[in-house]
Amino acid sequence: MLVDSFSVAGKADTTEYKSSKFVYNNTEVEMKDGHAVVTPTHKELEIRISQHAPKTGLMLVGFGGSNGSTLLGGLLANQHNISWERKDGVCNPNFFGSMIESSTVRLGTTHAGEDVYAPFRSLVPFVDPKNPDQFMLGGWDINNDNMYAAMQKAAVLDVTLQHKLRPYMENITPMPSVFDINFVAANQEDRANNVITAEYAKEMLGEEVDTTGRRWYVEVIKAQMRKFKEENNLEKIVVLWTANTECFAPIIEGVNTTEAELLASLKDAEKSKHIAPSSLFAIAAIEEKVTFINGSPQNTLVPGVIEYAVRNRSMIGGDDFKSGQTKMKSVLTDFLVSSGIKPTCIASYNHLGNNDGLNLSSPAQFRSKEITKANVVDDIVASNDILYKRPGEIEKPDHCIVIKYLKYVGDSKRAMDEYTSEIFMRGKNTIVLHNTCEDSLLAAPIIMDMALCGEMLGRLEIREPNGEWENFHPVMNTISFFCKAPRVPDQTPIINALPAQRACLENILRCVAGLPIETNMRLENRVM
Ligand code: NAI
Repeated sequence: MLVDSFSVAGKADTTEYKSSKFVYNNTEVEMKDGHAVVTPTHKELEIRISQHAPKTGLMLVGFGGSNGSTLLGGLLANQHNISWERKDGVCNPNFFGSMIESSTVRLGTTHAGEDVYAPFRSLVPFVDPKNPDQFMLGGWDINNDNMYAAMQKAAVLDVTLQHKLRPYMENITPMPSVFDINFVAANQEDRANNVITAEYAKEMLGEEVDTTGRRWYVEVIKAQMRKFKEENNLEKIVVLWTANTECFAPIIEGVNTTEAELLASLKDAEKSKHIAPSSLFAIAAIEEKVTFINGSPQNTLVPGVIEYAVRNRSMIGGDDFKSGQTKMKSVLTDFLVSSGIKPTCIASYNHLGNNDGLNLSSPAQFRSKEITKANVVDDIVASNDILYKRPGEIEKPDHCIVIKYLKYVGDSKRAMDEYTSEIFMRGKNTIVLHNTCEDSLLAAPIIMDMALCGEMLGRLEIREPNGEWENFHPVMNTISFFCKAPRVPDQTPIINALPAQRACLENILRCVAGLPIETNMRLENRVM
């Protein structure tokens, strides 16, 4: 049974905050002569979130791409309740694929033995994407197509819907952006007809600019963000990179390994060439105290950027949307390894025919993707040395990733995976998957979720009883569920397993709502 909303008996929230006290049960482990001594720990904590969900603008870098135009079209269809016809009937808009909008949490069981569920979004006051007065989109693209034309080129949404969306989208044009062909594939150059120039910078900043290095780009981006916020009466903005995958930026001592190096390099003609356009957006967001999320695989968040964000207490997150094949991988590998089965060989092939695929046909950009896709099984494998035990070395499954550009399949990416595992008494088990991932239709709701979560995390505070309220860490590992290669604070383990990632987010928000964490023990059904 599903209910729209719920209250917790005996819990009284104020109009200003939704808050709860809870006991955080954990353990401390100490290794003594190869033996683990586990001490259970219990800590009283208070957690709260402001009840006010601010009017928020999500600014996408790469707004005019397949993801950007699909999210805008889908959002507007939901906000204006636009239905459309197809040969199989009339379709109504939905947010399927959004964990926040379309998944549920279990509240408990009635006396009659029926489980009761509530929408995930009812746990805390999220920004409501269905309400155009609360959530809107904007952003940058190096291509000047209006958003209707961009949606047509992406060829993702049904054409009948595109016609209906035309009046809402043809007057929206992305803002000019920073372009550096050295970071993306040569085949993207033709798209770049909407880039920030010295003349545009003068117009935005009201004065002549010194175009040495790349600091001036950061200043223009900051001015664009402020203008967008002001013109749309927004209380908050979130910036998210969904532009083309860049190659990895080199990490060079003296250039970008610390905050001080990075800020100095921005003004240096030579050193600044190593600072990727995506990092310039991250730096601008940090300086404006705006949440920044990287949805592509490259290392936008180089060490200097992370240090800058942490010191400024400005929220950052990423990397790379976990939408199709990798999502399956982080479920399947977790299921196999936690069942005591040993994956030994994972072969993953993809082919796709959208512009992302074209960009990834270039080796340096493919390499960024290969890295984020490959690391996703590491922590799962590391969790079970019973299976992966070769004294003196780290054993991992053979793991290969191939991506090919085949124009004909367009945005309908095909993902084919073969998982071979060792089972009982050296037997072998092989699972073969064929997955048609409608790439942008899978990614668009994830982009929205990342923004809604990123915004929400900025309002979430925690403290020990009577201590100072503190936000969560600026490196938002709480949004790992949405990321192929989750960014985590220093000295923190990376969790890739999808169920663990979801449980983390759900349980933190259950604490705010005053619900117990979901343990799945259900003793009431198991004990006489
Ligand atoms: P796309 O190629 O259709 O769109 C990218 C857009 O970025 C283009 O409109 C391009 O003109 C623009 N662009 C390039 N450089 C720019 C810059 N410096 N500033 C502003 N705009 C710039 O690609 P799509 O399919 O929308 O994917 C976007 C990104 O999301 C890619 O990096 C992709 O790897 C990543 N991604 C996509 C997933 C999916 O399922 N669709 C999953 C995981 C990651």
